[in-house]
Amino acid sequence: METTDLEAFLSRAKALCVLTGSGISQESGIPTFRGNDGLWKQYRAEVLATPGAFARDPKLVWEWYAWRREIIHRAQPNAAHQALVELEAEFSARPGGRFALLTQNVDGLHERAGTGNLIRLHGDIWRLRCTGCGAERQDYSVPLDRLPPHCSFCFSLLRPAVVWFGESLPQEEWARAADVSASADLFLVIGTSALVQPAASLPLLAKQNGGLLIEINPAPTPLSGLADLAIRGKAAEVLGGLSSRIPDA
Ligand code: OAD
Repeated sequence: METTDLEAFLSRAKALCVLTGSGISQESGIPTFRGNDGLWKQYRAEVLATPGAFARDPKLVWEWYAWRREIIHRAQPNAAHQALVELEAEFSARPGGRFALLTQNVDGLHERAGTGNLIRLHGDIWRLRCTGCGAERQDYSVPLDRLPPHCSFCFSLLRPAVVWFGESLPQEEWARAADVSASADLFLVIGTSALVQPAASLPLLAKQNGGLLIEINPAPTPLSGLADLAIRGKAAEVLGGLSSRIPDA
């Protein structure tokens, strides 16, 4: 059975790097982007998730993020988020062991589950950034006010501190992500369609540097053919209770 292979790979690894996408939060009740019920099937990214969209219609974009916040606010981390917390503890306790979690998700469920070494590639829906001076602050309000607030320093509009289409990833996070990917001996990709660059290139970086690649996803992706192990299943079903099943190396 495939999960036995997963446990065997994990028991032999030293430096584990994990990349997650919206699929890991699907079993928590948060919609993905490109599945049948995905957000980009119902809404157009170019009117909701670009800097131009916010400049044209800040209220519309703000309301869309307010709605997503409400869904996320009701959600709880699931067994897959929890399993990654346990894997971090397990790898940190191994001699020479390392763990890093790179996420494209902005929902904050990895943080709520308790992951420590987390790199957010696409920002954080619970953070606001000034469109003028760039000042940032956390903001957990649900529901949000109907209009975006103004910056208390320069009075420009505040926007969600997430990466929109056409924007670069945060530089420092990207550099750290590339670094841990290149030095991983095992790279686990969970719940991403692997269609959005540059995040989708990180597993390739691991492979190019000799790392093994495991994918967990109910559907095939462009990475599946490169994977040393492709597990067709839902994240929480595959990963739930995993750490107690990993044999000693
Ligand atoms: P996608 O919606 O593109 O892909 C979600 C993936 O999760 C698909 O491959 C599904 O098959 C898989 N999936 C669905 N349910 C799952 C489950 N229960 N367990 C495991 N996998 C499951 O979402 P992302 O790959 O995260 O970017 O999308 C990448 C980026 O595109 C997002 O970060 C966002 C979006 O536009 C920005 O907002 C910049």
